[in-house]
Amino acid sequence: MKRATVGLAVVFVVMLASGATAQDMSKVINTPHNLSTLDVWGVVIPQNRVCLPCHTPHNARSVENGQSEVLWNHAITDQTFDMYTTAAGNQGGQPEGPSKLCLSCHDGATAIDDFGGNDEFFGNVVSSADRPSNLGTDLTDDHPIGVEYPPPDLTGYNDKSTFTGVKVVTINGVDRVECTSCHNAHDNSLGMFLRQTAEGSALCLECHDR
Ligand code: HEC
Ligand code: HEC
Ligand code: HEC
Ligand code: HEC
Repeated sequence: MKRATVGLAVVFVVMLASGATAQDMSKVINTPHNLSTLDVWGVVIPQNRVCLPCHTPHNARSVENGQSEVLWNHAITDQTFDMYTTAAGNQGGQPEGPSKLCLSCHDGATAIDDFGGNDEFFGNVVSSADRPSNLGTDLTDDHPIGVEYPPPDLTGYNDKSTFTGVKVVTINGVDRVECTSCHNAHDNSLGMFLRQTAEGSALCLECHDR
């Protein structure tokens, strides 16, 4: 009996040392998207239901055309955004699809703890302007979103079939760059929820052939 206990303890220590257990950053619960891990926000998620601020199995919010997107549970931004215009004169329209979902916490205006739509959650916590994660409503200093990929009539862009990390988001039949082209809200193993490493600018070079 005693031997077996010691053996298990050794295995446990080895697993901790290799980082295989508690801090698997590919799991939402270990990332900044586990809202209850952020002391500064003071957000309380009942039963530590880590998915709840963003998703619900029932009575989800309608996002577009009366239907919910990914069973969305969070308040949706009602802000108007200023969009980046590229040198070629291309500009995305007002945020749609997954980008609108991200901006429902990262716009610096919509309360981060406004989810579930009942009295349990108060909707008091809005990001302060000095936090880098607060993009605000002025997106003219941010990489363009809502733009077509590849941009029509422009060279210097790789074929999307060569992508290994990033992705295009198809909205109304058009392949576009959106927040989720570069980010995955669930997986922080590369840091900053990126889909491809920033090392050597690999992320940028997936699309830009420079
Ligand atoms: C901070 C917000 C946030 C949290 C927390 C979150 N998600 Fe998501 N989830 C999203 C967004 C945004 C999308 C849409 C992604 C897209 O369109 O690429 C999404 C999409 C999904 C999808 C649709 C398929 C996919 O992967 O795109 C599933 C399934 C899903 N989430 C499951 C979960 C589960 C299970 C949890 C809890 C363990 C969770 N999510 C936690 C934001 C979140
Ligand atoms: C329910 C609210 C919520 C939603 C929805 C949400 N986020 Fe976040 N996100 C947060 C909070 C809170 C933080 C921590 C901010 C801080 O510490 O200043 C964060 C942090 C981040 C960070 C920084 C991570 C780091 O390691 O510092 C990135 C990148 C990010 N989010 C991207 C996204 C993207 C892209 C989406 C949409 C796919 C999204 N978020 C949707 C609440 C949200
Ligand atoms: C073309 C790729 C790309 C797109 C599109 C993109 N991001 Fe990012 N984002 C990045 C990279 C790269 C970083 C890390 C920057 C750094 O480390 O300074 C980042 C960082 C962030 C951060 C963390 C800022 C900080 O310093 O804490 C947030 C929040 C974020 N992005 C949200 C978004 C949202 C919301 C959208 C859509 C409106 C979006 N991103 C679109 C590439 C992108
Ligand atoms: C998913 C593909 C994709 C990724 C990843 C990506 N870009 Fe872009 N980028 C685009 C598209 C599409 C445009 C818009 C081009 C147009 O329509 O004029 C663009 C525009 C730009 C512009 C503005 C050009 C102008 O005319 O104003 C710069 C600069 C830029 N990207 C740099 C970067 C950097 C730096 C990274 C890495 C952090 C990055 N991009 C990652 C697709 C991407």
